[in-house]
Amino acid sequence: MSDSTSENNAGSNSGINPGSTVSLCIMSGKGGVGKTNLALNLGLTLRDMGHKLLLMDCDLGLANLDVLLGLTPEKNLQDLLGGEVRPEDVLLHVEDGLDILPASSGVPELVEMDQNQRDGLFETLTELIKEYDFLLLDLGAGISGTVLALARMAQMRVVLVTPEPTSLTDGYAIIKVMHAKYGVRDFCVVVNQATAKEAAETFQRLNMACKNFLGFELVNLGHVRLDRTLTQAVINQTPLARFAPECPAIKDIRVLAERVSVYRRQNMEAISGRKALKEFLPGATSRNT
Ligand SMILES: Nc1ncnc2c1ncn2[C@@H]1O[C@H](COP(=O)(O)OP(=O)(O)OP(=O)(O)O)[C@@H](O)[C@H]1O
Ligand SMILES: [Mg+2]
Repeated sequence: MSDSTSENNAGSNSGINPGSTVSLCIMSGKGGVGKTNLALNLGLTLRDMGHKLLLMDCDLGLANLDVLLGLTPEKNLQDLLGGEVRPEDVLLHVEDGLDILPASSGVPELVEMDQNQRDGLFETLTELIKEYDFLLLDLGAGISGTVLALARMAQMRVVLVTPEPTSLTDGYAIIKVMHAKYGVRDFCVVVNQATAKEAAETFQRLNMACKNFLGFELVNLGHVRLDRTLTQAVINQTPLARFAPECPAIKDIRVLAERVSVYRRQNMEAISGRKALKEFLPGATSRNT
């Protein structure tokens, strides 16, 4: 299935070949560091810059992107994987240029997908993302087989950490496991809930560990300040980018979005010549980490 030779160049609102979707996942070792809020607000910010995005809730079992938006999806990813519904019945249209693929919450057996489900998901997504500039994947925390397989599937991997030692240790752990399991060496880092100084120190520590023990360096994508406005936005079930568009955290997220957009522009040639998603490796078992 070729997605890179499309002759239709008029599919997205940024005027870019729809075969040039960039997939980006946000992952963390430790839970609760801010992945879902970053995914949502980065998505809205990229959308405001003229990009078209699909934001996918990959926290299978504990989904909450919809909760941050105050939405109650009738159908979700799991229904789509079951083959009973069409993608257009599942997608939530949040704003022009931003759609969400919700997941379900509280269904433990779906937390780990088997190979058939992964293959089905890959095929569905490959078809679905053609008209988008970006596919953003909000992953669950930790190193489960499904999380790692989804992270491998994406072109850009953003590891989110906070300056807390536990977050740093767990961030290193997920990089190490991805590297050991799949040989992956390219990771971007965002330090959340940190001043510029704390973020620089945190990145330096993580980068040194990777350099010394794994033999490769990380890309510093930036940081997001600790911003109490976010708590109010969450309580109001309104994304921060809409609740307080000029607050410090959103200003920082704008810098990240600009860097992600530049990455897409600079790598357009390479990106349009390769698939936005890597196929799941056959036989990658769910607990084999
Ligand atoms: N930059 C920030 N400033 C202040 N608080 C923040 C910031 N980022 C995240 N938080 C706090 O962390 C909470 C958890 O955020 P979020 O749900 O996005 O984390 P998560 O990594 O997706 O969690 P999980 O691992 O459970 O999916 C938010 O509700 C908010 O209170
Ligand atoms: Mg989350």
